[in-house]
Amino acid sequence: MTRKELQHDLINDYKANNPKSFKLFQKNSDCLIKGGSHNARLFSPFPFYDAQCSGSKVKDIDGNTYIDFWQGHYVNILGHNPEPVLSALIKYMQQGGGLQTGFPGTHQGELARFIIKCTGADRIRFTTSGTLATMYAIMLSRAFTGKDLVLKVGGGWHGSQPFVLKGTFTYDKGFNYLESRGLLPETDKIIHVIRFNDINDLEEKFKKNGDRISCFIIEACIGVGGFIFASKEYLKRARELCTSHGALLIIDEVISGFRFHPGGLQSLYGMKPDLTVFGKVIGGGMPVSAVCGREDVMSQCSPDRDPDELVQFNGGTYSAHPASMLAGYTFITYLKEHAKEIYPKIGRLGKIAREGIEEIFTTHGFNVRCTGHPNGVTEYSSLLGVHFLKDTIDRLDSPDQAWNPEICDIELREEIFKLEMLKEGFHIMHGYGGISAAHTEEEIQASLDAVERIALRWKKYNIPRS
Ligand SMILES: Cc1ncc(COP(=O)(O)O)c(C=O)c1O
Repeated sequence: MTRKELQHDLINDYKANNPKSFKLFQKNSDCLIKGGSHNARLFSPFPFYDAQCSGSKVKDIDGNTYIDFWQGHYVNILGHNPEPVLSALIKYMQQGGGLQTGFPGTHQGELARFIIKCTGADRIRFTTSGTLATMYAIMLSRAFTGKDLVLKVGGGWHGSQPFVLKGTFTYDKGFNYLESRGLLPETDKIIHVIRFNDINDLEEKFKKNGDRISCFIIEACIGVGGFIFASKEYLKRARELCTSHGALLIIDEVISGFRFHPGGLQSLYGMKPDLTVFGKVIGGGMPVSAVCGREDVMSQCSPDRDPDELVQFNGGTYSAHPASMLAGYTFITYLKEHAKEIYPKIGRLGKIAREGIEEIFTTHGFNVRCTGHPNGVTEYSSLLGVHFLKDTIDRLDSPDQAWNPEICDIELREEIFKLEMLKEGFHIMHGYGGISAAHTEEEIQASLDAVERIALRWKKYNIPRS
């Protein structure tokens, strides 16, 4: 039987199990583009619409329950709707607080001090999404250095903003493409894309354009690019080159912040960037992000600056929203106070899942590699990507492999494996996703049992095996 037939059957099963979601998808598509507002949520053939989320699970409007390994775009390290955050918000609302006030509020200082203490940054400013925070970090860098180029790695996703929309998902003999229309004509020329974990490429770019590079923005553990850690030598060299060329190093910790330990992954690498961007986890389930770092760079957004020195990182209506500040502070304080239980637990479950999946697929003759293995810098990793290889390679150490359709069968992962796992009762992202403290070892084992059944089924189809 062919792979197309398998996909066809899976789509039919999914439709049969989700009639209410299908109807809602059609109805919502009349007013929303493709039925929603975030492309990553709108998978094919249509997304299920959630009715209730709690802990490790999500229940949809058709009554299906899934164990969720996406956990709110990797925000929910304690699982969906964690009790400490809910209680704090309920109490706050009952006392008459909560909605937008337009005043600075008491909680932003607590959250600010907490993050500054964890990272050693001088100053922090909040905004509402990782996208905005990376945009502001780059504006600050370009203004501070007076240089125009932005250096990023291929496969690095820093949100949907004009300074980074190149070399994210589209791979064709490299990550060299602008990935949006509607940008300024010079955008293509100012964003330079290099290969992740490739020191030679990094040195080459600085040698060629060092006098024009304003900043290098990078994730220490690349997320959407494939859950791959940067090597320690690579980040060390990046730090040296940025310093020697007067460029700023921006570490994007939107996924990695508070995911591996209480604070930024940068501290485990023993490095100090000029600016750090946080998002996701620091809001505890509410829309919060932040840029933090050097006083001299951050102070460019002070309203006391002369207009010709000012960077308009001006805040938005919902910046430092009072309830969001409380949620974020409650959440990351809880993570810090329970770090000794949480991080080893989710790291251990991550290891069981990564090793189990590789073993099952290998036993059944499929060429599969998991990513997210810690690289010695961090002891624990709760992230897990699953890659179906077309080629035999020992290690995946760059998005240039993970997103290369000649090396990895992305279609198999996204259009077949995803539906297979949904049928088995698991919602996955990027091949699996992120483990939270709400997940149990039994749930991880159940996911491995599901993978085993899928691998057995696939033997009947013409899915390539090694
Ligand atoms: C590393 C990284 N940076 C930035 C962003 C953008 O954040 P947001 O989706 O909050 O705009 C993301 C989103 O997934 C991300 O993974």
